[in-house]
Order: sequence, then C-alpha cells, then structure tokens
Amino acid sequence: MGKSHTLWLFFIQIIVKVSISSSGKVPAVIVFGDSSVDSGNNNFIPTLAKGNVEPYGRDFPGYPTGRFSNGRIPPDFISEAFGLKPTVPAYLDPAYNITDFATGVCFASAGTGYDNATSKVADVIPLWKEVEYYKEYQNKLRAYLGEEKANEIIRESLYLVSSGTNDFLENYYTMPDRQFQFTIQQYEDFIIGLAENFLRQLYELGARKISLTGTPPMGCLPLERTLNVLEHHGCVQKYNDVALEFNAKLSLLVAKLNKELPGFQVVDANGYNLFLQIITKPSRFGFEVTKTGCCGTGTFEMGFLCDPKSPFTCPDANKYVFWDAFHPSEKTSQILSKYLVENLLAKFL
Ligand SMILES: *[C@@H]1O[C@H](CO)[C@@H](O)[C@H](O)[C@H]1NC(C)=O
Ligand SMILES: *[C@@H]1O[C@H](CO)[C@@H](O)[C@H](O)[C@H]1NC(C)=O
Repeated sequence: MGKSHTLWLFFIQIIVKVSISSSGKVPAVIVFGDSSVDSGNNNFIPTLAKGNVEPYGRDFPGYPTGRFSNGRIPPDFISEAFGLKPTVPAYLDPAYNITDFATGVCFASAGTGYDNATSKVADVIPLWKEVEYYKEYQNKLRAYLGEEKANEIIRESLYLVSSGTNDFLENYYTMPDRQFQFTIQQYEDFIIGLAENFLRQLYELGARKISLTGTPPMGCLPLERTLNVLEHHGCVQKYNDVALEFNAKLSLLVAKLNKELPGFQVVDANGYNLFLQIITKPSRFGFEVTKTGCCGTGTFEMGFLCDPKSPFTCPDANKYVFWDAFHPSEKTSQILSKYLVENLLAKFL
C-alpha cells in the first residue's frame, strides 16, 4: 500500500499545482473608491479635495502625487506584493496611457462615497462615474490588446474597492438632507444597497476577484477626536459603532453575492480590528503618536490646509499613525496592506 499511496499523493500534488497555476495570476490591480485608495485623480478635476500640495508625498516620491499620504497608499503596496508595479497610476493622469493601465489603474476619487450626494459635497467623482471610466478603460484595453487578452485581464485582475467613510462623516453627520430622510441604521442599509448594485455591475462587466473594504475606526480619526471636546478628545464611540455595524452588513453582503453569483470571489477585506489595535497600542507597531496627524498641528488639517510652511509638521511621519487629520501615514498603510495580502488576499497570489 505504501507505494501506491505515495503515487497517489504525487498525483494529487500535481493536480493541486496545476489547478493553482491555472487559476491565473493577477495581471493588474484595478481600484475604485475614495481617498483611502485614490492615487491622484482629483488633481485633474475642479475640486478643493486634493492632496497635491507639499508636504504630501514628502517621503515618496519626494513631491505631492495627489495621494493623501506622505508616501504610498494600500493599492501601491498590494500591487507590489502581487509582483506588479510599486505604484498604481490614476486614470485621469495624462502622464500615463493604456500601456501603463494594462497592469494597474485607479479610478478612485478622494471625498467620494457610494451615495451620489456624498460626491457632491466636495464636487468629486461619483461612483457611477468611476464605473463609466472603467467601461471606457475596457474599450481602450480591447483596442490595445485585442478582445481575448483584454477579457483575460478583466477577469483575472484584482479589484480593490474601498469606500463608505465619507458617506457617514462627510455626508450623513455633516449635511442635513440624509439625516432628515434616514435614521443611521436606515442609511447604512441604503449604502449597502448601493454597494450591492455597484458590485453586481462589476460582475456584469466581467470582474471576478474583488477585495472589499468598508470603514476604519472612523471615530478615532484625529479630526473627529479634535471635535470630541466633551470626551477629552477620545475616540467618538458612536462613529466606531456605526463603522462596526456597517462592516458587519458589508460582510453579509459579501457572503450573499459569493453564494449567488457563479465564479464571483469577493473578499471581505476588513482591516478595522488591526487598525484599532494600531491606534490603541501604537508602540507595539513602532508608533509614538496616534491622537494627531503629522501634518501641521495634526488636529484638523488635510488637503490644502496642510500648509507646506507650517512649523508644526512632524519631522518623522513613521512615528505617526496618521499623516493628516483624516488619513493614515504611509507606514500604517503598509502594515494594513501586509495584513490584507497575507491573511485575506493570499488566495489570489
Ligand atoms: C503610451 O506612451 C508611451 C510613452 O509615453 C508611448 O511610447 C506609447 O506608444 C503609448 N501607447 C499608446 C497605446 O498610446
Ligand atoms: C446617481 O446618479 C446617476 C447619474 O445621474 C444615476 O444614474 C443613478 O441612478 C444615481 N443613483 C441613485 C441611487 O440615485
């Protein structure tokens, strides 16, 4: 029995190897969402929500790129981990064309959300428009590589979707309309419905491998802490609770779509717990400051408010969990990305 057993094992190993390799490596990373993943599309539209002033980009590439970071953001790290290029270019950036976009492209726009009304707050690209750009991209890809190769890229690519925070913080809790229309639970459900429509659209357009990220512990963003005067600038528990509730609903949506749509592989790429650990136990991750961002006073600045001449801007962003009052530092993004790749996206590697 020993020998035939070994032989069987040998065959099984071959079958496993063949099926792994034929599942197709990821040929490109394709990005949708908000500032958590925007590599600079807002530079090319008329909005104030831009990360294209110094000191943004200070640590990579040394000048502002439009990313809301001192350096790279998660899609860049994830692309690199998948053996692709170390940065994912913005679709609206005229410095790039389909040759570059064939191995990675970003349609995300800082300040946007699932809700059309959210994108109107700062005049940024609504999600439906990101999808229009994606359709245009598909046409360019087919013209450039031919139908068959383009379809393979569309099918095998890893789609990173990260959105939701602005729907709550920039829209629901800041503008009057949605609060008047919906309780917070109803609004969460409304957003989940929009997320579902969006994911079904991606599926119909040929996307299969999706990484879906919801909201971080958004009550702990420095700006929200600054406003939380009554609780001595602690995290706003109400916002963290909404984030948890929303992420749990997203998780149910993921399970539902994976069950219903043949071949759809959506990963619930939830980094909430790790992010909260980083915020509550910063020294375990090598950070020293978690309550304020590096840029300016770190209490409210982002975008053009990050004054290049501010004497308060920190010298070493690697000691800060947050780069500005709303966005993680490059180092935090790197830690979160590594976790996502190794624990949740590894099956696509
Ligand atoms: C893209 O740009 C490169 C260099 O800028 C150029 O060589 C190439 O022909 C362009 N490709 C297409 C498809 O336009
Ligand atoms: C958002 O706006 C687009 C374009 O006007 C429209 O097609 C879509 O139905 C809107 N979505 C919702 C949920 O209203």
